[in-house]
Amino acid sequence: MRVVILDGAGDIGAFGAGLILDGVVRGRIRTLGVATGSSPLAIYRALADQWIPALAHLDAFALDEYVGLPAEDPQSYHSVIRREVTDRLRLDPANVHVPDGCAADLDAECERYEAAMAAAGGVDLQLLGIGRNGHIGFNEPSSSLSSRTRPKTLMAATRRDNARFFGDPDLVPRHCLTQGLGTILDAAEVLLVAQGSGKAEAVRAAVEGPVSSMCPASVLQLHRRATILLDEEAARQLALRQYYLDTEKNRIEGLRP
Ligand code: F6R
Repeated sequence: MRVVILDGAGDIGAFGAGLILDGVVRGRIRTLGVATGSSPLAIYRALADQWIPALAHLDAFALDEYVGLPAEDPQSYHSVIRREVTDRLRLDPANVHVPDGCAADLDAECERYEAAMAAAGGVDLQLLGIGRNGHIGFNEPSSSLSSRTRPKTLMAATRRDNARFFGDPDLVPRHCLTQGLGTILDAAEVLLVAQGSGKAEAVRAAVEGPVSSMCPASVLQLHRRATILLDEEAARQLALRQYYLDTEKNRIEGLRP
């Protein structure tokens, strides 16, 4: 894993946008996996600021969607992705995919979604946030490490964390459709972003703990191209914090004998 520790949202946005723009310009990134929530917002905003026409040709696949919220509900991930990604990056809405949490047959919808991702050639770079309980997507602790897109039940703690978007905690849906951990691992590259002290314990478990379904993000230790992008607060509990900082410095300055 490449662990990058930066000063704050501005630097995180610039770093993430730089990584994505480089991949888009070089033709390595044609399909972007997109997350909702607060963590990737700085990156979307930096991408909008540095917008280039090639961004408009990207395909995008969302990680997850609530069950039972109509697409037009402002808190549905359909709406969030449209506001934060499709509009800002000027993507063609026809190329932006979000699972349908109101489908009559949710299992069939998940299979359809997996097939659509495969037909697009898979995800080239998957953006991720991390829950305070270590979830990625909505793969809550105890999720199978090889899971595929499927319906899941949200944990009470996740519903409480997301209540800030809904006003009333009772309005947070109880179920979701989410890409599985196996689906996420299939992306050619992943970029996980975490900010703030509330994420420090989950980041420690994900990066330095054992690979375990009890911290779903730890499965990224098995990925060949995973970058973990942190602010100082989120990195606070890492035992090897200084080593990660030294390694990044060497990347910039070059290796010296
Ligand atoms: C969002 C998602 C979640 C969030 C996570 C962190 O599509 O799948 O895993 O990334 O809950 O949320 P924030 O970034 O709001 O702290």
